[in-house]
Amino acid sequence: MSYVLGLDLGTSSLKGLLVDNKGKVIASASADYPLIHLKSGYSEQNPQEWLEACVKVFEQLSAEVADFQTNLEGISFSGQMHGLVLVDAAGEVLRHAILWNDVRNSAECDRINTDFGEQILNITQNIAREGFTLPKILWVQEHEPELWAQVAQILLPKDYLRYWLTGNYHMDYSDAAGTLMLDVRGKEWSAEVLAEYQIATTVLPPLIESYGNVGAVTQALKERFGFDKDVQVFAGGADNAVAAVGSGILDNTTGMVSIGTSGVFLSYEADDSVDYQGQLHLFNHADDAYYSMGVTLAAGHSLTWFKNTFAPDKTFNELLANIDQIEPGAKGLLFAPYIVGERTPYSDSKIRGSFLGMDTTHTLDHFARAVLEGITFSLKDSQHLMETVANKRFEKIVSVGGGSKNPNWLQIQADIFNTPITTLIADEGPGMGAAMLAAVGLGWYDTMLDCNKAFVDYGLVTQPIKENVEKYQKIYEQYRKIYDATKDISHGLIDIVND
Ligand code: XUL
Repeated sequence: MSYVLGLDLGTSSLKGLLVDNKGKVIASASADYPLIHLKSGYSEQNPQEWLEACVKVFEQLSAEVADFQTNLEGISFSGQMHGLVLVDAAGEVLRHAILWNDVRNSAECDRINTDFGEQILNITQNIAREGFTLPKILWVQEHEPELWAQVAQILLPKDYLRYWLTGNYHMDYSDAAGTLMLDVRGKEWSAEVLAEYQIATTVLPPLIESYGNVGAVTQALKERFGFDKDVQVFAGGADNAVAAVGSGILDNTTGMVSIGTSGVFLSYEADDSVDYQGQLHLFNHADDAYYSMGVTLAAGHSLTWFKNTFAPDKTFNELLANIDQIEPGAKGLLFAPYIVGERTPYSDSKIRGSFLGMDTTHTLDHFARAVLEGITFSLKDSQHLMETVANKRFEKIVSVGGGSKNPNWLQIQADIFNTPITTLIADEGPGMGAAMLAAVGLGWYDTMLDCNKAFVDYGLVTQPIKENVEKYQKIYEQYRKIYDATKDISHGLIDIVND
């Protein structure tokens, strides 16, 4: 028996998924770490915590699986995207990582889009957004110049974890695409972008494919964890790309919806010909091709916020227990999940969430259903762009993450997306995708598609219900008006609060 380990470095935890060479899940383990919010809009993490979480995951797997240390052959990664990790010449981390959901850098985004917007779009296929790495770098250059002067290497979160495991610096194309410094078509660091922002080429790591071998686990860690073999490490990729690999998004007809802290609607792009003019992200896939994607910043986060604020004593299951008793549309109650601003399609860090249509008959169940519907409408905005700009028609959508766990929410997704929804039997899209990258990297399978056939099993399909689809189409028309109707109010209120 041989094992591969997929390590999914998420926003709230590191999850390890141990899979054998036939694709069978042997065990999983996870360890949490906190977010650090020093100020409103700031979101940081201490990279040391990722390493400690990795130690815990290895320890849990060793305790649970007798031959873990003997038979582990390969490791690969799925990582939260865009987070800025700055390292000095000795390989020491210089400051907490600034994460994808940190929006302190709106001024830097405006600067990039105003002064260099056309070039950035042509080179990186994307426009500057708060989440991306380049505007975070500009913020550090401006606000922490002494620290910036010590930077010897720029990494993304999972690249730092991989560096700790191997002693080597690398970055894969799928994650590099989200930095806004990669020539996405040419697959090289853009000399033009680096020159424009005085970033030395030497601070960026060598680029590599997601299934590329970056070396073995260091001798010291091999001994510490008692690995028998020279465990090979493969680059891994951006969580959304890797989740897409793990969900079998390897052709144009299948879309993916992933609802974690953030939510994404993602579509495979066989080549780079599609042009969304930056309205959707276009990134390199972990499987050579490309993918387009729209992001709802607070998807699962909206539900967690709602539960913690209005039903702290209930579990998620209790909160959602009665939503099937509530009619689609929650009796006229609409929720816009813009509680931390929104990425797609508005790219607005100052828009805020709202409940509309409240009346005295609405109960907690109506609100809970409205929250799920609002998150799904926001993801529909990305599907809508794919259908209108690129004429896409999805035959099915694979739903992964927290949003795929509740059958009633799956029905809401099928009805709002008007597309059959399927799930993964082992609902571990990113972890499984990472394990697949290691399996292909080790040469167990020739292609991702071959590996997908062996590793991925799909669950039941949830079909859209015609009358719900029709109702949701009408409600979606109303939902689409919320942004314009509430924008000035949201911005005005934020300005007053920040005054
Ligand atoms: C994608 C994005 C998020 C993070 C979450 O652009 O910012 O989905 O990848 O980890």
